[in-house]
Amino acid sequence: MKIIKVKDIQALNKKAAYLVASQIIEKPNCVLGLATGSTPIGTYQELIKLYNDDIIDFKEVITFNLDEYIGLPNTNPQSYAWFMNRHLFDFINISDNNVHIPNGMAEDIGKECMEYEDQIKKVGGIDLQVMGIGRNGHIGFNEPDVMFENLTHVVELDEQTILDNSRFFNSLEDVPKRAISMGIKTIMNARKILLLATGEKKTEIVHEMIYGRISSNVPATVLQLHPNVIVLVDEAAGKLIKEG
Ligand code: GLP
Repeated sequence: MKIIKVKDIQALNKKAAYLVASQIIEKPNCVLGLATGSTPIGTYQELIKLYNDDIIDFKEVITFNLDEYIGLPNTNPQSYAWFMNRHLFDFINISDNNVHIPNGMAEDIGKECMEYEDQIKKVGGIDLQVMGIGRNGHIGFNEPDVMFENLTHVVELDEQTILDNSRFFNSLEDVPKRAISMGIKTIMNARKILLLATGEKKTEIVHEMIYGRISSNVPATVLQLHPNVIVLVDEAAGKLIKEG
């Protein structure tokens, strides 16, 4: 794992956007894995700036999102499809055909998962996967006790995740209990991974992800086995990381 620690969220957003931008410049038709959550929002804002400054072009870029709630249509402001439009896609020249987000309203969810995986394969796999980390160590929606062999699949959300994500909903009861998520294997198949974490709430889990024993109880520890991961943290999230 390559660890990059920066001063604050602003610096992290810029650096993360530059890393994504260099992937797009190097391969204009690259396949990006994208994430939701509050962490990548600032990175998306910086990417929009780079797009407006003509430094990057999304015309040929293909994207796959990590996950989506089951039961929320893409017109629901809490859906991840809505999130992605509001925070990134509405402001760049990406083609609708190149955007992929699991359909949480699919009639046959099992088929939807398999097709999602096929679509990733068809475009040659993910070049760069951007993601955050849940306080319980989840990546995407791969919750503790996950099977490392999973491809895109249905997930029962952990209590901690439902609680953490309830801040975006009117009430705890409104948070969906299930989601579709890329599996650990899908994530590990990405050629490069950029994991972002900010703030004190992530200090301990970031430390565990990097130094802890690899265990399905803390899904993000599996990233220790990936050959090309950048962990980009601000000072607060990286407080327990040893220097050097
Ligand atoms: C959600 C998403 C994850 C994300 C996590 C952390 O559960 N499914 O992909 O990493 O939230 O969110 P935040 O960045 O808001 O801390």
